Amino acid sequence: MTSDELRSLFIDFFVGRGHARIDGASLIPENDSTVLFTTAGMHPLVPYLMGGRHPAGRRLVDLQKCIRTGDIDSVGDPSHLTFFEMLGNWSLGDYFKREAITWSYEFLTGREWLGFDPALLSVTVFAGEGQVPPDEEAALLWEEMGIPRGRIHFLGREDNWWGPAGVTGPCGPDTEMFIDTRKEPCGPSCRPGCGCGKYFEVWNDVFMQYNKTREGSYEPLAQRNVDTGMGVERTVAMMNGCESIYGIPLFRPVFEFLEKASGLDPDSDPEARRSMRIIADHARSSTHILGDDMGVPPSNLDQGYVLRRLLRLAVRHARKLGIEGPILPDLARLVIEGESHVHPELARNRAFILSEVEKEESQFEKTLQAGMREFEKLLPNLLRNPSRTIPGRVAFRLYDTYGFPVEFTTELARENGLEVDAEGYAQALDKHRELSRAGLDRKFGGGLADHSDMVTKLHTATHLLHRALREVLGDHVEQKGSNITHERLRFDFSHPRAMTPEELSEVARRVNAAIEADLEVTFSEETVEKAGEMGAIGLFKSRYGEMVKVYRIGGYSMEICGGPHVERTGGMGRFVIQSEKSSSQGIRRIRAVLE
Ligand code: ALA
Repeated sequence: MTSDELRSLFIDFFVGRGHARIDGASLIPENDSTVLFTTAGMHPLVPYLMGGRHPAGRRLVDLQKCIRTGDIDSVGDPSHLTFFEMLGNWSLGDYFKREAITWSYEFLTGREWLGFDPALLSVTVFAGEGQVPPDEEAALLWEEMGIPRGRIHFLGREDNWWGPAGVTGPCGPDTEMFIDTRKEPCGPSCRPGCGCGKYFEVWNDVFMQYNKTREGSYEPLAQRNVDTGMGVERTVAMMNGCESIYGIPLFRPVFEFLEKASGLDPDSDPEARRSMRIIADHARSSTHILGDDMGVPPSNLDQGYVLRRLLRLAVRHARKLGIEGPILPDLARLVIEGESHVHPELARNRAFILSEVEKEESQFEKTLQAGMREFEKLLPNLLRNPSRTIPGRVAFRLYDTYGFPVEFTTELARENGLEVDAEGYAQALDKHRELSRAGLDRKFGGGLADHSDMVTKLHTATHLLHRALREVLGDHVEQKGSNITHERLRFDFSHPRAMTPEELSEVARRVNAAIEADLEVTFSEETVEKAGEMGAIGLFKSRYGEMVKVYRIGGYSMEICGGPHVERTGGMGRFVIQSEKSSSQGIRRIRAVLE
């Protein structure tokens, strides 16, 4: 089965059951400053889940392009992608659990549809928590379909709850469907959702029946909705009996290309296979980010930063496979050719995609050369080290500051009779990931690119500024963007008019007072939910129960953020606002420095 066949089957099935086909939304969310990318079909449909009338009716079916970069470190395993396609059927206050589950079962197992063996199907349902009872109704419906209790698993919020967390909005319990790959269980507690890969999740039916209120309680929504998401790549993989999502026909051309260019065989070389998977995924997600009608070029900010990271990782893995010379344009061309019939915007934006990837690759090449020069500068000292070992932190600094991949450092080390302290490097990297992971899918994560002293200080100053602006101008002030370099901070925020000189000096005065008070900076890890209840600012939509860091600066500021920050505010320097101007409609931009 191909992705094309699955898409048309799904759409036919639901159109045949009264659903109107609608277009998916852009990958770059419009009017939503809470997420960097569209992560599910729900984002653009929130007003209709809340009761607004959708022009196409109350039963909809769509194909949504999604990006979830939170999983970026898992890409290369059999089931994770950063870009994927999601098929969904929607009930906007129309049908509910019975129809949703009956149709899911019929589509998955019906002979004229997917025809999966019902014996391979298992499901999870919500186990209940607080005000929300266990979803016995869903479990009974699955039993009615013939799924025995032993294959119906009751799991908690982490697994079976969907909706924007921390802030208000539609949400509810869900039921997820898994296909058994017939692999050996990972142990006595092997079950759907355990993550070992035996059970492949293909579909999720969300029963959006609650509205999360500001006070943190769950009120029944004015209408009960269904939001389902079937992963196209995963389902096609299961239809074809593939070991991984990368085995599906869609990825065939890029693997053939990579095998030919590298001369390596992914079937007999697991390392090469992992690199090829990463290249295939990242080339695809990058091409879609660039090729969206709202597409963005690579940069050091927000979506552009994620894009840059994806492109550079793809190049890096290509070099690892021994492929030299430009590769991104060829990869992008393969994606455009393979997917424009489904996503015509790729063909429309072809020239932009190709010129941007070409530029980025040559810029990255220069970065690599700079890293090489830096390595050569360090070499005499390293050679004097009697252990003949390059400390992990040195290898990490080459990576973090110069973007010089550790594999390249290892290679150069070997050529000079040295080795890299791999453990020390892994520790440094872990520490960095811990700090930066929290930010990946989010707009306001911060702290991703550069952790130099000045950047760290400016980052803390940004929190103080955010707080001071809210005090001086009012609570309508919300962060709309933040960009920090070694030299200055730049902060975009919502405010309808230019600030007066008095307001500006009052804001600077308050920030400097907080610096002089030498406040302690601390953080705790909380669920997004809890952070919202505590009153932390910087909230965003994300999966319920997700852990975030809440940074406190004395009693002055409390904000969700990936860090890092200074330990105390004293010694940050004097905060000076250099300019305040309009950035776009209703958004002001402040540039400031620490002297
Ligand atoms: N929005 C639901 C999901 O992404 C269907 O799993």
